Amino acid sequence: MLMQVIRADITALAVDAIVNAANPSLLGGGGVDGAIHRAAGPALLQACRDLPESTPGVRCRTGEACITAGFALPARHVIHTVGPIWHGGGHGEAPLLALCYRNSLRLLRQHRLHTIAFPAISCGVYGYPAVKAASVAVSTLRDELAADDGIEVTLCCFSEEMRALVEHALDDAPH
Ligand code: APR
Repeated sequence: MLMQVIRADITALAVDAIVNAANPSLLGGGGVDGAIHRAAGPALLQACRDLPESTPGVRCRTGEACITAGFALPARHVIHTVGPIWHGGGHGEAPLLALCYRNSLRLLRQHRLHTIAFPAISCGVYGYPAVKAASVAVSTLRDELAADDGIEVTLCCFSEEMRALVEHALDDAPH
């Protein structure tokens, strides 16, 4: 599995799947969630509404992932995942964030897809410290990398600061 970090707007990437940093309702929001829904068009919201609720108002629990079409996006699919809200680090945030990456890749493989782009899950509204989140993302993806299955991962950062930080995490992580 190849892995790269870029600075870009994830809604512009023509990959098999872009990952959305969503909330449990899957009914849209701000940040990258808002950008993806704006670019995909209203059909994406309808597709999310059509997904079953595990409990009232919850279609995707923290750490879980689900997939829809990409509709008007250049990406073929959207994999929606819900990152943990940062509560200081002692509430299982790191393993839950790791699950977002693992479950997104599980869906990619299940659908026999190959190229995926991740935003910096939980690093915005959910307040996860970027350095810690980058370390979790890179180490989890490196571990998944072991299964050399032709998957290409792009870590798509919205700012140069984030891109540099993730690149540093990539250089630091054991190969
Ligand atoms: N492309 C790539 N990355 C983006 C884009 C974009 N178009 N827009 C924002 N980002 C980046 C942010 O700069 C941040 O680094 O995505 C990262 C995640 O930030 P958020 O979108 O705020 O996601 P998160 O912190 O996981 O919070 C999720 O916010 O939008 C709501 O509905 C969403 O309730 C959920 C919560």
